[in-house]
Amino acid sequence: MKGIILAGGKGTRLAPVTKLINKHLLPVYDKPMIYYPLSVLMLADIREILIISTEEAIPQFQTLLGHGENLGISIEYAVQPEANGLAEAFLIGRTFLDGDPCALILGDNLFFGSGLPELLSSAKRLDGGAKILAYQVANPRDYGVLKLDSENRVVDILEKPDNPPSRWAVPGLYFFNGDVADIAAEVKPSARGELEITEVIKAYLEKGSLSVEWVGRGYAWLDMGTHESLLQASQFIETVESRQMLKIACLEEIAFRRGFIDIATLRSVVEAQPKTPYSDYLELLLSNYGQH
Ligand code: TTP
Repeated sequence: MKGIILAGGKGTRLAPVTKLINKHLLPVYDKPMIYYPLSVLMLADIREILIISTEEAIPQFQTLLGHGENLGISIEYAVQPEANGLAEAFLIGRTFLDGDPCALILGDNLFFGSGLPELLSSAKRLDGGAKILAYQVANPRDYGVLKLDSENRVVDILEKPDNPPSRWAVPGLYFFNGDVADIAAEVKPSARGELEITEVIKAYLEKGSLSVEWVGRGYAWLDMGTHESLLQASQFIETVESRQMLKIACLEEIAFRRGFIDIATLRSVVEAQPKTPYSDYLELLLSNYGQH
């Protein structure tokens, strides 16, 4: 399975900061936002990744992540000239996908939970053609929302509804089989002028090939698109990290623990970094390696 991170968009809700900096490069406590969705793909054992962003921001992502060589993964880049909607990812990524199944994650979505790797490996198993997550929220109006029948089967998905039919929102992490680019090519722009991901999901639903991974209260799902939610996400990461002395979304640690890079690569990455709390953490990992 391949992975796509959508890291373009307008970021209007974070203006004026986002007039200068792409949203996904902003710090979320101690690391750039893009580390969080990238860590999710890595935890799902996805090692071929396409980052889609604006022409101005792509050189910055390249400076930050290169082609993934320090992480034992392959990162490619593609430009989305305008924010034409999430489903455009599959059209821009068609050559990269080359008919393979894929996971799409939105660059401003944060997932956390101790069972995340297990959840992801279950979500990756496409029982049909596509799989979405479902997560209960207090503010369903802000998201794609599931309409369910009396047996909790999905009958419809509504994009940012005024009268939400449930509190089950669809987080920005989706899994599709190799048909997704063809299906996305059929989607017409919505009233707000975007190629909506909900239309792609609905096409699978209509074919009876959509399944749902219900995500319970043991997981946090946050989006980081407003000043309040960005601050909340930073505080959340700071609280967990300082309490446990363990980092969330430390990409080099994930790459090492999952066997994407060996200890020699980890050591050379650490040695090349300036001395910071982040590099101290990796030093500790190096020195503890083998002890448990
Ligand atoms: P949104 O939060 O819907 O949009 P945005 O990031 O442009 O922000 P705002 O609403 O404040 O203007 O986007 C969700 C995620 O998807 C976000 O990480 C940006 C990304 N995105 C794209 O990369 N391309 C797109 O065409 C759209 C609509 C979003």
